[in-house]
Amino acid sequence: MQQGSVIIRGVGSYLPRKILTNHDLASMVDTSDEWIRTRTGISQRHIADIHETCSDLAYVAAKNALEDAKLKPKDIDLLIVATMTPDMICPSSAAILQAKLNLRRVMSFDLNAACSGFVYALEVATRLLQSGNFYKRALVVGAEKVSSIVDWEDRSTCVLFGDAAGAFVLEYASTEHLGILDTVLGADGSSYEILYMPAGGSRHPATADTVAQRQHFIKMNGKELFKASVRFMGKAIEELLERNHLTKADIACLIPHQANLRIIQSLAQSLGLSMDRVFCNLENTGNTSSASIPVAFAQAKNSHHFRSGDYIVLVAFGGGLTWGATLIKWP
Ligand code: UT7
Repeated sequence: MQQGSVIIRGVGSYLPRKILTNHDLASMVDTSDEWIRTRTGISQRHIADIHETCSDLAYVAAKNALEDAKLKPKDIDLLIVATMTPDMICPSSAAILQAKLNLRRVMSFDLNAACSGFVYALEVATRLLQSGNFYKRALVVGAEKVSSIVDWEDRSTCVLFGDAAGAFVLEYASTEHLGILDTVLGADGSSYEILYMPAGGSRHPATADTVAQRQHFIKMNGKELFKASVRFMGKAIEELLERNHLTKADIACLIPHQANLRIIQSLAQSLGLSMDRVFCNLENTGNTSSASIPVAFAQAKNSHHFRSGDYIVLVAFGGGLTWGATLIKWP
């Protein structure tokens, strides 16, 4: 491993134009604006056009990140797309995006760790950038068209999700102790059925029956996921702080996965962190899975939620179960 830092040179995001409000949902399933807002904190979500794919969303976010970094596609040495809703199972959305962006023929692959995908992808990209002289800059994108796997007849899930993409341009720099400092990741597949999509993979390939049984949509045990998320995200942050000799008081800005405001509040409370140090945008976006953290990060950066020298913590959890936390020192 080289000494030095991996810095976030540029960020970008994209939210599709179409907005679906809680009131719109109340005309589709047996729910209400009041229920959704009080149980989740969500008021609206963005929904991609029927013809818009995961790589289309990723493309706009990636272009914005490249522009923010003042770099060209030719400057990128490595591309990772974190997604659980790729354009198709094969090839990867990253391969499709490589061509759309006109990148050089660089290593490009998808990474699926559900809603934790972006923090997983950051860790993989960071380690590759630190590994030697092969890679100088990485494009890491979280992109999801969750609306394509949501059951619009199931009120317990359809009110939660939205579509979006967010992207970071990462760069290896010779400075010390700046940018992405450390990441804690974990997974526990023993209770994967807490959040899963039963069919469409090799276990249950698509048949007329799987379609009739609505097996190509997300199934979720919301209560179990709620409890597990607070526990695993809390533990990941504790471990991250401990091994970097920091305390909760050192966190200037916490950017959590935007799934449910009550989850975020419970997490903040368990850490003893006041909500003014926690960035939330889920009211307007809903849960956008692996896009949620980079989109929130881009908005937090643009609205000056952190300054030079601040410690920022990203924290995620999702299907798998998977979880992760990343420590960043803003240059
Ligand atoms: O990225 C990870 C993705 N998933 C998550 O993070 C989800 C984590 N879990 C949650 O956010 C919450 O568990 C939910 C928001 C999904 C549900 O909130 P809850 O407070 O755990 O509600 P519940 O599941 O216990 O349901 C309470 C009641 C039930 O009715 P009964 O049995 O008490 O009569 C549900 O049938 O609310 C009912 N309900 C609804 N009512 C109106 C469930 N969904 C809805 C709805 N509108 N959309």
